[in-house]
Amino acid sequence: QKEGFRYFMEKETYEQSAVVSDILTGRIGKGGIRLDELPADWLKRFSSITLCACGTSYHAALTGAYLLERLAKVPTRVEIASEFRYREPILDPTGLFAVISQSGETADTLEALKLASAQGLETLALCNVDNSSIVRAASHTVLLRAGIEKGVASTKAFTAQVMALWLLAIYWGQARSELSEETLARELDALRRVRVAVKVQPRVHDRLHRLSKRYLHGHGFFFIGRDIFYPLALEGALKLKEISYLHAEGYPAGEMKHGPIALADAELFTVALMPRSCLHEKIKSNVEELSARDATIVAITTEYFELADDIIQIRAYDHPMLEFFEMMVVLQLLALEIAVRLGNDVDMPRNLAKSVTVE
Ligand code: F6R
Repeated sequence: QKEGFRYFMEKETYEQSAVVSDILTGRIGKGGIRLDELPADWLKRFSSITLCACGTSYHAALTGAYLLERLAKVPTRVEIASEFRYREPILDPTGLFAVISQSGETADTLEALKLASAQGLETLALCNVDNSSIVRAASHTVLLRAGIEKGVASTKAFTAQVMALWLLAIYWGQARSELSEETLARELDALRRVRVAVKVQPRVHDRLHRLSKRYLHGHGFFFIGRDIFYPLALEGALKLKEISYLHAEGYPAGEMKHGPIALADAELFTVALMPRSCLHEKIKSNVEELSARDATIVAITTEYFELADDIIQIRAYDHPMLEFFEMMVVLQLLALEIAVRLGNDVDMPRNLAKSVTVE
């Protein structure tokens, strides 16, 4: 069943290109995006959206907020389900409440959804499992089309979640007439190229395999990024934590100087997400500050960067989402290779279950 791969997580990482093709099937037309599950008139009624989720799905939600505000111009709020439930939240009665879940069974996410429904809000589930509790409880659903995910550490479901949110942002932007023709064309062109960006390149996987032996010690990792690369940094850190059991933290790069930089020394490994197409000079100067304090820098970037101790080179793209997806694969495989070297069972990490049905 693993089809020659060592772990389901590895197989699922390699499957992402096919998943992206499935997600786009029938959804890109001449006039833009089609999301037949969601009538445009229905969507146009809402003045805001709240995205609520846990774990990796929460990181997808954070990414979605950048996309929804940028493309659909819809005010977007993101909530961790376990916090949301108990803080007596005030919901926008004219807003849409959306949950994101691979399994459709996460207890906190399900309860958050019920809470919003009970307050009379319309609800949307972005979910990978049809007929799951979350799908049954939501008024509308977009199925993620990632296929069955077996690895406890989520990979292809995250891709599917981010893709679904991106499609939603474009579709909603179209419905609200917020997208210029150029922007729409640029987004559609980028969507069509994701399949290539998420395809694992043997050169990169081999490089990560060789590089991983240098990062098995030390007292921790920081993953840093800006804009959509900030939630991706959170996700990279979570992947590493889950399967390697090493301490890793994701941080918005611009926040490092407000405290965490105090930790910087040669044994602090900083994985810097340095896309070319998005705030490049800003992240560069954040990394320079860390390098000046002797942090060991692993740069994921498109070009030579003199301050990096190691560079993982990705291809240059003219759209941040393409750099996002290519970096995402690097982070998934980096976590995998480190965990394998440490002798861990990547598909069955200690203390974790695939679906968290208790709060
Ligand atoms: C991380 C991971 C978890 C889940 C979280 C939510 O790799 O898999 O953090 O993302 O438990 O699960 P779902 O998406 O099923 O609601």
